[in-house]
Amino acid sequence: MSVSLVSRAAIIGTVLIAVLYQLVFKSIIFDTLGYGRKVLSIKAFQDVHCEKITELGLEGCEDMWLHESTGLLYMACSDSQSRTQWLPAVGFLNASGRGLTDRIAVLDTRGQGRLASRIKWLSVENFSGIKGDGTMNLHGFDIRADEESDTLHIVLINHRPPIDPEKGQLLDAAIVGANSTIEHFQTRAGGDTMRHVRTYADPLIQTPNRVAWVTSDSFVFTNDHSGKVGFRRELDPFIGGGSVGYCNQNTCKIAYSGIKLPNGLIRARDGLIYVPSTVDGTIKVFSLSEDLVLLKVNEIKVPLPIDNLSCDRNGDIYAAALPKVYVWTESSKNPFNVHPPSAVLLIRKSERGNGGREDVHNETDAAYVVSKVLEDDGSVLPGATTAVHDTETGRFFLSGVMSPFIAICEPIGHD
Ligand SMILES: *[C@@H]1O[C@H](CO)[C@@H](O)[C@H](O)[C@H]1NC(C)=O
Ligand SMILES: *[C@@H]1O[C@H](CO)[C@@H](O)[C@H](O)[C@H]1NC(C)=O
Ligand SMILES: *[C@@H]1O[C@H](CO)[C@@H](O)[C@H](O)[C@H]1NC(C)=O
Ligand SMILES: *[C@@H]1O[C@H](CO)[C@@H](O)[C@H](O)[C@H]1NC(C)=O
Ligand SMILES: *[C@@H]1O[C@H](CO)[C@@H](O)[C@H](O)[C@H]1NC(C)=O
Repeated sequence: MSVSLVSRAAIIGTVLIAVLYQLVFKSIIFDTLGYGRKVLSIKAFQDVHCEKITELGLEGCEDMWLHESTGLLYMACSDSQSRTQWLPAVGFLNASGRGLTDRIAVLDTRGQGRLASRIKWLSVENFSGIKGDGTMNLHGFDIRADEESDTLHIVLINHRPPIDPEKGQLLDAAIVGANSTIEHFQTRAGGDTMRHVRTYADPLIQTPNRVAWVTSDSFVFTNDHSGKVGFRRELDPFIGGGSVGYCNQNTCKIAYSGIKLPNGLIRARDGLIYVPSTVDGTIKVFSLSEDLVLLKVNEIKVPLPIDNLSCDRNGDIYAAALPKVYVWTESSKNPFNVHPPSAVLLIRKSERGNGGREDVHNETDAAYVVSKVLEDDGSVLPGATTAVHDTETGRFFLSGVMSPFIAICEPIGHD
C-alpha cells in the first residue's frame, strides 16, 4: 500500500516534472536562452556589408533613433565598464560604479568625410543631475520631431542613484533600487546641446526600460520588472510582472500589466503601440483608448527572444533579437571579451486575405509577416539590443547596451 502510494506519488511527480519541462523549462532553456540554437554567420547575408565601428567611443549605446529627414542618428551611450556595475534592468546596482559620462551622441550618417568628423556629443543645459553634477544614467529613449520647426523633443529614461531626500547621502541601491525617472529635453536637429524641460518622477515609474511619445505631451513606457529589487523579480520571467505605463503632464498610470519582461516598446506609424517581451517570443499590439487603457488588438509571434523595436519611414518594424541569451548574459559581465550573437527581424504588417499593406480597418484582422534580415555569430555585430533602418540609404545601424562598439551595415550595390 505504502509502496504503491510512493510509486504513484513518484509517477505523478515525474509526470509533473515532464509536463513542466515541456511547458516551461524547455521553452526557457531552448527558446529563450538559446541553448542548442544554430546561428548564421553574417557572411550568409550577401547583400549587406557590415562593419564594426570601434573608434568613435560609442560604447554601451543602449538605444538609437534616426531623424529620417536629415539622417542624424541619436544614440544613448555610456561606457561598457560602468554598465557592468550599474544597469538596474539586469540587477546591476553598484551605484558607485555608475557611469558619470553617459551622453547622447549624434552621428551624421549621410554626411561626407570620416565618421570621426561627423560625431557630436550633446551637452546638457539646465539639468542639475545628482547634486548639481549634471550626470544621467541612460537607457531607452524616444524623440518626437516637431512638425513645424527643427525642434526635437527627447524623452529618456534616467536611472538615478537613490539619495536620502533629507540627509542628501547616497542610499544603498542594492537595497532600495535605482531612483529611475523620465526626463524631457529639447534640442534642435543638428544642435550641440539639449535643454532640460522637466523630470517625471512617479512611484509608477518603477523599472522603466524604454519610453515612447504618444502625443505632444504624453508618453507610454515599459516597466521591465515587477519591482526594483527583491525575490519577486526573479519570478518575472516565469509568471510576468512587467507593465506598460502612461504619463501626461498631470499624472501617470499603469495602462496594462502582467507582461513578461516587456522591453523596448514603440509607437509605430500606424499609431499602435508594440510591446515586445524578452522571454516569451511575442510582441503585443495595443491601441490606447481615450480613458488611457491599453486595448490589446493583436499579438505577433516571433521566432527569437527580442529586445527593442524600431520603426522606419515605411512603417516596417525592426526588432533586435538575441539568438543566444545565455551568451549575452555572460557578455554583460565581460563585455570586452564575450561577443554574443545578434539577429535582426523585420516585422511587416499585411491585411489577412488581402496580402497587401493597405489600410487595416480592424486591427484584429491584421496579419504580420516576420522575417530575418540579418544574423551574426558575434564576429561583427554588437550583441545588438537595438537595430535601426534608414529607408533612404538602406543602411542598418546596430548597437548594444553592453557592447564597446556599434555596427553599420551597408547594402551592397547601393552607394
Ligand atoms: C562598485 O564599483 C566601484 C567603482 O567601480 C568598485 O570599486 C567596487 O569594487 C564595486 N563594488 C562591488 C561590490 O563590485
Ligand atoms: C535655465 O534656467 C534658468 C533658471 O531656472 C533660466 O533663467 C534660464 O533661462 C534657463 N536657460 C535656458 C537655456 O533655458
Ligand atoms: C534593450 O535590450 C536590452 C537587453 O535585453 C535591455 O537590457 C534593454 O533594457 C532594452 N531596452 C532598450 C530601450 O534598449
Ligand atoms: C528621486 O529623484 C527625484 C527627482 O529628482 C527626487 O525628487 C527624489 O527625491 C529622488 N528620490 C530618491 C530616493 O533618490
Ligand atoms: C474587430 O474584429 C474582432 C474579431 O474579428 C471583433 O471582435 C471586433 O469587434 C472588431 N472590432 C471592430 C471595431 O469592428
